[in-house]
Amino acid sequence: MQKVILDCDPGHDDAMAIMLACKHLDVLGVTTVGGNGYLKNTTRNALQVLDMIGRSDIKVYPGHAGPCTAPLVIADNVHGESGMDGPQLPPPSKPAESKHGVDFIVETVMSTDDVVLVATGPLTNIASALNKEPEIAKRAKGLYIMGGGAYCGNWTAAAEFNIVVDAEAAYKVFHSGMPIYMSGVNLTRQCPVLKEDIETMRGMNKVGKFAAELLDFFAGGGDAHLHDACAVAWLIDPSIVTSAFLHVDIELTGTLTRGMTVTDLRPLQGHTPEADIDLTSKKRWDDAPEDSPFRGKAPNTHVGIRLDFEKFRKLLLDTLRTYE
Ligand code: BDR
Ligand code: CA
Repeated sequence: MQKVILDCDPGHDDAMAIMLACKHLDVLGVTTVGGNGYLKNTTRNALQVLDMIGRSDIKVYPGHAGPCTAPLVIADNVHGESGMDGPQLPPPSKPAESKHGVDFIVETVMSTDDVVLVATGPLTNIASALNKEPEIAKRAKGLYIMGGGAYCGNWTAAAEFNIVVDAEAAYKVFHSGMPIYMSGVNLTRQCPVLKEDIETMRGMNKVGKFAAELLDFFAGGGDAHLHDACAVAWLIDPSIVTSAFLHVDIELTGTLTRGMTVTDLRPLQGHTPEADIDLTSKKRWDDAPEDSPFRGKAPNTHVGIRLDFEKFRKLLLDTLRTYE
C-alpha cells in the first residue's frame, strides 16, 4: 500500500478523506493544522474520527495553530463552532502526540522512501517542513493537495480557502519543486454531496451513519462538495481524475486576487473564447514576447481538470460499506 501522511484540518470533508485513506493507503500518521477550526479542535476532531472508524492505532501530531505570517481565519460558517459540527461524538480515547506535526513530517519523509503527503488544509505545516528540511521536496514522492482552483475561488472570487488562509505557505510549497497534484475547486465542484447517497450511507453501518450525520450538517439541505476526499481519491485511483501538467503560481500581492492559484491554462485553451478547456490542444495561446517574464514557465503542478464522479461515488460508497 502507498505510504502517506495526512495533513489536515478536520473538517467534514477532511473526515471523509480520512475514511477513504485509512482503507486504501498505509497512513503513517495524521498531522493537524489550524484551518477550518482552531488547532485544538481540528486535533480533537482527527482523534475522534480515527476512534470512530476503529483506527486509533494511527497517531495524531498537532502542527501549527495558524499561519506564521498572518492571523488565522477559520471557516466556522461552513464547519460550525467545533470545526466538525453535526454528529455527537465521545471524547477521544487517547491524547494527541507531543511531537510537533512538522517534526513528524520531516523525520518520516527523511527516513522513509516514497512517502506521499496529502494536505487538505492550509499549507502551513508543509511549508514549515520545507523550511526546516528543504530535502523533503526531493524525498517525498508527491504532494496531493485540496486547494486552489484553475481560475475560480470560493473564499474570494479568485481564491480558495486553504490557499488564501496561508498564501505565503502556499507560495513556498508551489516553488519547492515537490511534485504537486492539485485538486482545486474547479475539480472538486464536480463532486457534489447527493441526498440519496447520504441516505445510503445512513443505512450501511456505524461509520456510514457517522458519515451521513457529518454530511447532514455539511450540506445543510443545500449544496456541498466533498473537496478533500477528491485529493485522496485521485491518489487511490488515478483514473478518477484527468489532469494537465501546468505552471501554477500563487498571487501574494493582488488587491482582489491574493491567494489565487494563477494557473497558466494557455496550453489548453480552445480556439474560441466559448470553447471549453481542450486537453488535446497543441496550440499555445502565449502572446507574450519570448524574453518577457510573462511567457509561460515550466510546469510544476498536475492540475486536476475533470473528475469521473460516478467512479468517485462508487469508491466512496464501496469503501464505507467495508467499515463496521
Ligand atoms: C476547503 O476548505 C475547507 O473548508 C474544506 O475542508 C476544504 O479543505 C475547501 O475550500
Ligand atoms: Ca480541509
